[in-house]
Amino acid sequence: MQEIERRDGRPPVVLGIRDLVKVYGRGEGEVTALRGVSFDVQRGEFVAIMGSSGSGKSTLMNLIGCLDRPTRGTYLLDGEDVSLWGRDQLAEVRSRRIGFVFQSFNLLPRTSALENVELPLLYRATPAGESGGPSIAEQARQALVRVGLGERVKHHPSQLSGGQQQRVAIARALVNQPSLLLADEPTGNLDSRTSIEIMRLFQELNAGGMTIILITHEVDISEYARRVITLRDGRILSDHPIAAPRDAAAELARAPEPE
Ligand SMILES: Nc1ncnc2c1ncn2[C@@H]1O[C@H](COP(=O)(O)OP(=O)(O)OP(=O)(O)O)[C@@H](O)[C@H]1O
Ligand SMILES: [Mg+2]
Repeated sequence: MQEIERRDGRPPVVLGIRDLVKVYGRGEGEVTALRGVSFDVQRGEFVAIMGSSGSGKSTLMNLIGCLDRPTRGTYLLDGEDVSLWGRDQLAEVRSRRIGFVFQSFNLLPRTSALENVELPLLYRATPAGESGGPSIAEQARQALVRVGLGERVKHHPSQLSGGQQQRVAIARALVNQPSLLLADEPTGNLDSRTSIEIMRLFQELNAGGMTIILITHEVDISEYARRVITLRDGRILSDHPIAAPRDAAAELARAPEPE
């Protein structure tokens, strides 16, 4: 992948978003979901996007994830203008550069954890493993080890807890080594302890260099990120760093799981 060198020594910009506008529908039913949103995300950042229901979070996620196109404005991913890409290129970018995690884990039932994680590798234009690297199964297994599920590769989703299912989904998002992990309400279906466990995993991945964008309407969850962007009515209300993010690993160590 093309690396954009910066003379000021700061990390490369993964996302460059300028004046994004999104209008759904036409005429009387027209809804302006984003009204000119601009921000940059550098490699290695962990950003939470906050906002109440209807503020435009999922709309923004769909644009960042190349699942939809803006009505106006520009979006640079790794320095390249997404609006110039055709359908095939967008599909390729979605599968190679962006790892998606959703509130509903979207795993295939009656399919093992390993096979779920193998899927994005099977969809790749050039199958992994052909170039003499690790096999598809081995890459999927390594991704499951990375999320702490090395002992559960053969389990089906119904045999896993909610938190474990979300870990499988995170392993699936990571397996193609994306530039960006994009998560929309990943803890929305999880209890509070399991949510902190998922935040611990995100903090570990971020400490390892992964760029993460986490969409949430829960203030508690946003406090594990290192920067918070708040949307209101399709505009950025605030965008600031968190000086001392919550430390999920320390919180879990202080409150051990009841026996
Ligand atoms: N496909 C669509 N067609 C028409 N309007 C839409 C569409 N998707 C979203 N909207 C509208 O755009 C606005 C922003 O919606 P969006 O889903 O981005 O909000 P959100 O911040 O993700 O909310 P939530 O927290 O409830 O998920 C809302 O007014 C919504 O009704
Ligand atoms: Mg939403």
